[in-house]
Amino acid sequence: MKKLIIGIVFISIILMACSNQWRKDDAKPGNTDAHKKQGTNNNHKKKIKNGVTFIDDILIVNKKIPLPSDYNPGVDKSARTALTKLLNDGNKKGLKLTITSGFRSYQRQQTLFNNYVKKDGEKAANKYSAKPGSSEHQSGLSFDIGSTKTPQVNFNTDFVKTKAGKWLKAHAHEYGFIIRYPKGKETITGYQYEPWHIRYVGKKHAKAIYESHLTLEEYLGL
Ligand code: DAL
Ligand code: ZN
Repeated sequence: MKKLIIGIVFISIILMACSNQWRKDDAKPGNTDAHKKQGTNNNHKKKIKNGVTFIDDILIVNKKIPLPSDYNPGVDKSARTALTKLLNDGNKKGLKLTITSGFRSYQRQQTLFNNYVKKDGEKAANKYSAKPGSSEHQSGLSFDIGSTKTPQVNFNTDFVKTKAGKWLKAHAHEYGFIIRYPKGKETITGYQYEPWHIRYVGKKHAKAIYESHLTLEEYLGL
């Protein structure tokens, strides 16, 4: 009887050790099945708070991950402080930078998007404008930057050829911003190149994203 109990305990220990090992293997970085379940890979941590998605504590909003219609935070304070520094430094260099768009509510985005659909049709509108809920402008973390210098090329890809556009591309990360919709990454971001649209992620992430040439989606393992 004693031998039987010792045998059962021994077998149980072996079985527990094996199942633990399998669990560890399943959670290994790069194990796509384990991470696909979370919508991320390589050990990124996804959290959803009141319908707003954060990966590694960075808010993410895109065509696949929308914001709730009642998410209405206004302009983020840290983003606004960083933007003021960026604008001041750029304007000390005579760039005449200006904010062409900032925070937009769900309802404002709905009106804009509907107008673009009326003007250009839904397929074309989807390439340059976000459906309500999918705009980063609703997060309060994004701004469109232009210049009051003439000739004005605001909201035009030629903005990147201007002094202001070149400066923004080269220095936005120093203030914690990224160019959110880069050239050549349209299939990943879902939008055409927008050299004027900047997104606040903080200096550490902005520097890493700038140096790696990754989109926010790639950087967050999406
Ligand atoms: N133009 C960007 C994609 C927006 O509408 O949020
Ligand atoms: Zn924008």
